[in-house]
Amino acid sequence: MTIKAVVFDAYGTLYDIQSVAAVTEEAFPGYGDLITQIWRIKQLEYSWLRSLMRRYEDFSVITKESLAYSIRVLGLKHDGASFARIMDKYLHLDLYPDALAALAALKGKKLAILSNGSRDMLNALVKNTGLDRVLDATISIDQQRVFKPAPEAYTLIETRLGVRPDEVLFVSSNPWDACGAKSFGLSVAWIERVTPEAMALACVKSDVVPPLTMFKALRTQMDELGVTPDHRIHALSELPNLAG
Ligand code: LAC
Repeated sequence: MTIKAVVFDAYGTLYDIQSVAAVTEEAFPGYGDLITQIWRIKQLEYSWLRSLMRRYEDFSVITKESLAYSIRVLGLKHDGASFARIMDKYLHLDLYPDALAALAALKGKKLAILSNGSRDMLNALVKNTGLDRVLDATISIDQQRVFKPAPEAYTLIETRLGVRPDEVLFVSSNPWDACGAKSFGLSVAWIERVTPEAMALACVKSDVVPPLTMFKALRTQMDELGVTPDHRIHALSELPNLAG
């Protein structure tokens, strides 16, 4: 089937969520890496738990609540200003270095984001990073009030872009999201940014496991969920060849 649309996950795929570490470290010297990793893990966990509990709140609420947890669990105290500064970074995350070139090389395809991010968070992020000039649509799951990997979330691609699932290549570095998209019926390219070989090296070199290494062990290898993505790539730059 001809691929008519390439749809991207946002956080972790086009945008490097580790880029918040600069502001978490500035706010809490010595705790930046630990807060950054606990935050992302709890942020995703809360999106899954709220979907299962049918207690939807948008991703800005979830991102605030998971940040508050990450600070509290370490016995730290925050003032409103430092909390707001950290949250604001989510509207200015770093694009991965090859993202703009990869999107430019996919001209002719419909290009979109499908993300758990709230509409306001995503519109601000996309505008702040210039992707509003490149994307045909920025789709938040907000209107479905359920987070990916729920199948209802992926139905928004056809609703908004007017392309059938088999005409879509979905791209995510988040294994759970790649599995959800594949389970729904999309063609899926999973970006493996951390290989088991790299993990083995990272662990051998030190007798303590830094929080980022633990995060990579938990969130960067393909999960065992009964589905397998169609393509395993290692960078966004591999996509133009894949999309045809
Ligand atoms: C996204 C993150 C949560 O949906 O993967 O952009």
